Amino acid sequence: MNIDALFSDEAKRMKRSAIRECLKLTQQPDIISFAGGLPSPSSFPYKDITEISAEVIANSGAAALQYGTTEGENLLRDELVKRYLKEGCKVTRDNFVITTASQQSLDLLGKIFVNPGDTIICELPSYLGGLNAFKVYGANFIGIEPDELGMSAVELEKQIVKLEAEGKKPKFVYIIPDFQNPAGITMPVARRKEIIKVAQKHQVLIVEDSPYREIRFDGESQPMLYSLDDQGLVITLGTFSKSFCPGFRLGWIIANSEVLEKFVQAKQTADLCTSAYLQKIAGLYLQKGLFEKNIGNIVAEYKDKRDNILRCFKEYFPEGVTWTHPEGGLFLLVTMPEHIDSDKLFYKAIEKKVAFVQGYTFFCDGSGRNTMRINFSYADKKTAEEGVKRLAEAIKEML
Ligand SMILES: Cc1ncc(COP(=O)(O)O)c(C=O)c1O
Repeated sequence: MNIDALFSDEAKRMKRSAIRECLKLTQQPDIISFAGGLPSPSSFPYKDITEISAEVIANSGAAALQYGTTEGENLLRDELVKRYLKEGCKVTRDNFVITTASQQSLDLLGKIFVNPGDTIICELPSYLGGLNAFKVYGANFIGIEPDELGMSAVELEKQIVKLEAEGKKPKFVYIIPDFQNPAGITMPVARRKEIIKVAQKHQVLIVEDSPYREIRFDGESQPMLYSLDDQGLVITLGTFSKSFCPGFRLGWIIANSEVLEKFVQAKQTADLCTSAYLQKIAGLYLQKGLFEKNIGNIVAEYKDKRDNILRCFKEYFPEGVTWTHPEGGLFLLVTMPEHIDSDKLFYKAIEKKVAFVQGYTFFCDGSGRNTMRINFSYADKKTAEEGVKRLAEAIKEML
């Protein structure tokens, strides 16, 4: 039987994620991995979660183990509202739907907005998991190369006008404004305002995907795109994966009521609801002020790791290799001389028992072959130094 012939067009567009394939390698104990986006296991609040889990079961066991609403638990949404009001976002509980983490939000956005052949404008590079989620529904991408401030608003408008001339409109603009994955750069307020101005002028939706926002080491927090727009054009995605624990698979989407209504319908066909039990734990965790406390620990640990890896790059990488300097988050992007192909380097690095993700996987146009994404949150400092030494050797051999 030819099963392939039975698969839907969407299924045929699905591919295994290069990152998740890389993650398999990281599970080998002797590989030093800069590949996945894994938070540090030491950042997980084991004791607090043990206690709160028991409290949830003791106080609301039946509801915790029951189906919940598609929109999500009230306590969690109310706690999130408090956080976003502090960010200057005009939101109520009804602007939130809790999701099974941001990857589900991205998939459902693809499902509700994208028809085959539709255009999405994104950063070049951008988060592979997002691009893959939209691609399944048949999206085409226009990637906009960032300058040091992120996506250029001038270039964005140019591309929108070009599409308009062809009688088209982008379905949305996908932006990761804070400590971008993979590049690690953050868009300053002036650029955010310019982007919103373009979106409002052309009535284009913006998807603001911001999983790293809370993890800032230096500089000042920049206002959320959501808070800068007063026309309901921004859809914001949040997640606990990097700021709490990815194993909970808890995220949320903030949007206007029309988008959320369709989103809820899509979620009902996907999983009915996100685990009420985990939402209750997360809600209490926030209510008790433990989230804030733990974020402080995460920021301190990752800042130390970022400083360490930047020092190691300076010490060991050969001339001609450059890298971004993230003010937060988990990633940075390394650029090597033009002729170095990150695929070849990847296999050389694996021989030396060190792993990274080839940067071109994040470029929707296949460029960026001489780049690699480095995660600095997972490996401890000593291991990271050894990993950078090995990577430097591999690069030198390629030079
Ligand atoms: C920009 C971005 N969006 C979404 C996700 C998905 O996160 P999760 O599904 O764990 O919330 C990630 C994960 O690394 C990411 O970097």
